[in-house]
Amino acid sequence: MIPQANPGAGYCALKTEIDAAVARALSSGWYILGNELRSFEAEFAAWLGVPHVIGCGNGTDAIALALRGLGIGPRCTVVTVSHTAVATVAAIEMAGATPLLVDIDPVHYTLDPAALEDVLRTPPPGLPPIRAVVVVHLYGQPADLDRIVPICRRHGVRLIEDCAQAHGARLHGQRVGTFGDAATFSFYPTKNLGALGDGGAVAVRDADLAARIAALRQYGWRQHYISSEVGVNSRLDEIQAAILRAKLPHLDAQNARRQAIAAAYTAAMPAHLAAPAIRDGASHVFHLYVLRAQGRDALQADLRGMGVGTGIHYPVPVHQQPAYKGRLRVWDGCRETERASAGILSLPLYPELTDDEVQAVCDAVRRCATPG
Ligand SMILES: Cc1ncc(COP(=O)(O)O)c(C=O)c1O
Repeated sequence: MIPQANPGAGYCALKTEIDAAVARALSSGWYILGNELRSFEAEFAAWLGVPHVIGCGNGTDAIALALRGLGIGPRCTVVTVSHTAVATVAAIEMAGATPLLVDIDPVHYTLDPAALEDVLRTPPPGLPPIRAVVVVHLYGQPADLDRIVPICRRHGVRLIEDCAQAHGARLHGQRVGTFGDAATFSFYPTKNLGALGDGGAVAVRDADLAARIAALRQYGWRQHYISSEVGVNSRLDEIQAAILRAKLPHLDAQNARRQAIAAAYTAAMPAHLAAPAIRDGASHVFHLYVLRAQGRDALQADLRGMGVGTGIHYPVPVHQQPAYKGRLRVWDGCRETERASAGILSLPLYPELTDDEVQAVCDAVRRCATPG
């Protein structure tokens, strides 16, 4: 079976460098907030093109820390999408804010700027004021920042970019994560830049904001053992930071490999299946290759029968999940979100797929895909 994701293959491909990095971290005798993390933060900041990166425990904490750093919490509403990892919404609630979910554009699966404009112009009654937007660059595709950035500016709301799936994606040549007030990353093992455990980071331009987020990630300490405000414990450990340092120099080449695999899949896609669209001016880094099909479940079963593993990202929109249903405010129904979740299917995609495996996936899709 060709799995949909394969973080073990990512380790094997860079085993020598990763093992050396882990050995270095282990023998340093310093395991939390040391040289490896400081170096990774500087190297990732230079790669991204922002002055400050703050490592933290995971991508969920990164969003919560970014919001809190920007002063967004209780008595604030934060707009985001329901078509995302539940983490995006969980993080807004972790920060103490109220999520308000809007629909996606059905072609690119990212936040619909028209819905955002509407909700900011006429916020639903009974909610605290809208103070921020968390835009998600889902699947590795930049959201429509050409429209979203000016909308946020015009309405005076903060923009946080959730880049958990989009390390290295660009819009008009500019990397995502450099457009908003803060950007957040996950280094979950399957991500385009993945640790071998949990990890996350916040990227910001403003030095005071960076210092506040760095304090919040460790009990609100600006001075050792003195909490200047209430913080949390969310640190990126030295071993994971060392692993990420070993992997970062390969990220751009790995993204190019993902793009080549995606292009091969799209070339093989039968007409009745919808290949993913790439936004004009965007470099999509294909964290996931998500096609859309009538009769998705039958297609998934057929592919499984031919040795091709797939995934569904995500089968149930956040606003319909048991923990959130009936409790979260949804603007205007999120109908495109609900439609999308019924038809999407993620094919195997990771840089270590061999050409033969890519060909096998293409052949399987061509053979089993009968119009539903
Ligand atoms: C879009 C998105 N946001 C946030 C997260 C949260 O990241 P983590 O799993 O590192 O907490 C993820 C990863 O699952 C994600 O895909």
